Amino acid sequence: MLFTLKSVIPFCLLLSLGMAVISCTDALPEEKGLKDWSEFPIGGAVNIEAVLEDAKLQQIIKQNFNSLTATNDMKMHHVLDADGTFVWGKVDTLVAFCKKNKQHLFGHTLIWHEATPAWVTEKAVEDSLWLRDFLKEYVTTYVTHCKGDVVAWDVVNAAFESHGGAYRESVWYKVLGKEYIADAFRYAHTADPSADLFYNDYNIERDTIKLHSVLKMITALQKENVPITGIGFQMHLRMDVPDETIAYALKKAADTGLKIHLSEVDIIFNTHNDRKYGGQQQYETLTEEMKQRQANKYKNLVKIYRTTVPKEQQYGITFWDFTDRDTWIRSFFKLKDWPTVFDENLNPKPAYYGFVEGLKEQL
Ligand code: XIL
Repeated sequence: MLFTLKSVIPFCLLLSLGMAVISCTDALPEEKGLKDWSEFPIGGAVNIEAVLEDAKLQQIIKQNFNSLTATNDMKMHHVLDADGTFVWGKVDTLVAFCKKNKQHLFGHTLIWHEATPAWVTEKAVEDSLWLRDFLKEYVTTYVTHCKGDVVAWDVVNAAFESHGGAYRESVWYKVLGKEYIADAFRYAHTADPSADLFYNDYNIERDTIKLHSVLKMITALQKENVPITGIGFQMHLRMDVPDETIAYALKKAADTGLKIHLSEVDIIFNTHNDRKYGGQQQYETLTEEMKQRQANKYKNLVKIYRTTVPKEQQYGITFWDFTDRDTWIRSFFKLKDWPTVFDENLNPKPAYYGFVEGLKEQL
């Protein structure tokens, strides 16, 4: 069992030696998890093959999440083989797993420059008409296959440059212009009118210029009646992003009237430059004081979300990887960091209890 008395008591003692900001006197009953304290869905991002081989991971997932997202299994370079044929194996396994555990499946992601196979880029550059048809066929076939099983999609992911206000110079943008974004939403909606459709991006909680550009695009999409349900804030946070900045961004986004999803939450101590292997190691070890600060950051994030985004617009909060053992931060940025709410041994960290406090606190 994950939260036996044995595992909770030493943890509390340890905390009481430190700042004791995050109390855990009300240890979690075994059957309760994050989803049970929350008024909105709580999700986790998974690699489905790893989950199926790991009983402890499965237990965490069942106990805490009522929504799942695939870290990679549903991306274009994973679902298409080299001749453009769909390979449905992992998608169907994810659908079955979610049905069995009564969890929503959140589709991540239809169009993302990083997941566009090289052969698609090559063909697109030769023949722009081909890319137009491919976009329509890909989105339509995929969303139709998942109709009724995938409740929501990140239709377009990270269509803006990491910083500043420019559209990303991806093959999609270069060949089709920004209209590829509206088109992708329309195709997805036609294929499954009941699916919730999101635009998802990063750094928008801290880069105001990028935020404003994204929101300008969102407002234009709304004016054109493009079927968009919400905005996904990836929320790959750093400890030093001020809470006020996050609150400002969420408020601005909520002002569009759309649903707001914190779609890929993790909180790092070190820094990176948004590029693969672009990490700067500043902290070599995780101290008790750091654990406490991170717990407070998680708590504040949940509170900001609950107070800034109106209830009816709170789509949910999803963790990206959710264990320090599996976090993408370590391999992607080549950083030793501890960004999640479960530690290397898959035990809940102070961050987990901070998150719970953020959910439970009377506002
Ligand atoms: C990441 C995965 O977690 C990694 O395993 C993979 O190597 C790269 O992609 N923003 C996104 C996610 O929208 O799809 C990314 O996922 C993390 C950043």
